[in-house]
Amino acid sequence: MRRRLFARWILSGLALILVALVAGPWVFQIYWAHRSSNPVRRGVVRARELGCFSCHGNLGTAGLKDPGGDNLEVPAWNGGMSMMYVQNDSDIQRYILDGSIPKVASPDPSTASGTPPKAEVAMPAFRSALRGSDLADLTAAFKVLAAMVSPPSGSPEERGFNQARTWGCFSCHGPNGSGGLPNPGSFAGFIPGWYGPDFHDTVRDRSEFDAWVREGRIARFESNPVAARFTARQRIQMPAYRRFSPGDLDDLWAYARWLEETDGGTRAGRDAKP
Ligand code: HEC
Ligand code: HEC
Repeated sequence: MRRRLFARWILSGLALILVALVAGPWVFQIYWAHRSSNPVRRGVVRARELGCFSCHGNLGTAGLKDPGGDNLEVPAWNGGMSMMYVQNDSDIQRYILDGSIPKVASPDPSTASGTPPKAEVAMPAFRSALRGSDLADLTAAFKVLAAMVSPPSGSPEERGFNQARTWGCFSCHGPNGSGGLPNPGSFAGFIPGWYGPDFHDTVRDRSEFDAWVREGRIARFESNPVAARFTARQRIQMPAYRRFSPGDLDDLWAYARWLEETDGGTRAGRDAKP
């Protein structure tokens, strides 16, 4: 009797170990994605799921043409057009919650060219489709894609931002380095961002930052057998930007600092430099 109980213990122990081995990486990746999540990252995912990009273009880069009148189109988020519609968070949220305000035809038909152009594509109300932190997340994503908050003009962080755009760093690292795009075979399952927990795990100091950018790798990971194994196996590798000058690296670093300070460029910096 005692022996059977013992055997059962051993068996369930083995089963547990097996489950842990099979589910381990998966459970770990869920935890990891949760830990390093941020509003911009979540907002971009939700915008895609909610269909925002169907009208505003992928990542808000190209609004639909609207046949309702001359030069009518759905505003792209990145066109600088959004400033005409929204000035602050509550303006943005009003659109998301309630959609377009119905346009009233001009009371005086004799003004200008007669009948005003009438949009045929309207912004739908999303109030009942939202859950959890959606509203705040969509607002953060909109502000980043519309570049509503930018680094002080002429500053190193602004130059770093322009470098990142020129070289397409955001194609892999997400809008404003928000991270989270998939990377099959990697340790975390996604490409890290430039601020928040995943950044601090991968970049301990300035010299590691420089090594990542110039060599696409760091010594600390290369010498760790587990990290090295995942790094070799992941499908998307960090390119080595060997031609970047020390000045370029200073600018990119300044930009990463600015992202940390402004929650990924969603609010003005604490100590905005002149
Ligand atoms: C059916 C097309 C359509 C969809 C889908 C759509 N929008 Fe819009 N959106 C518009 C139009 C058209 C406007 C222009 C404003 C107006 O007509 O009053 C607009 C304006 C806006 C504005 C005002 C600022 C600006 O210039 O862009 C925001 C913010 C916005 N949309 C966010 C969103 C978000 C977030 C989603 C997804 C949750 C979304 N939109 C989905 C059509 C759409
Ligand atoms: C082709 C996709 C790709 C592009 C483009 C890219 N990176 Fe990366 N980057 C990665 C991947 C993947 C990693 C993670 C590498 C690893 O874990 O081995 C990474 C890691 C990094 C890191 C350290 C980890 C972190 O927290 O982000 C920095 C810093 C970085 N990249 C900066 C840049 C800069 C600056 C540019 C543009 C000049 C750039 N990357 C362009 C894929 C890319």
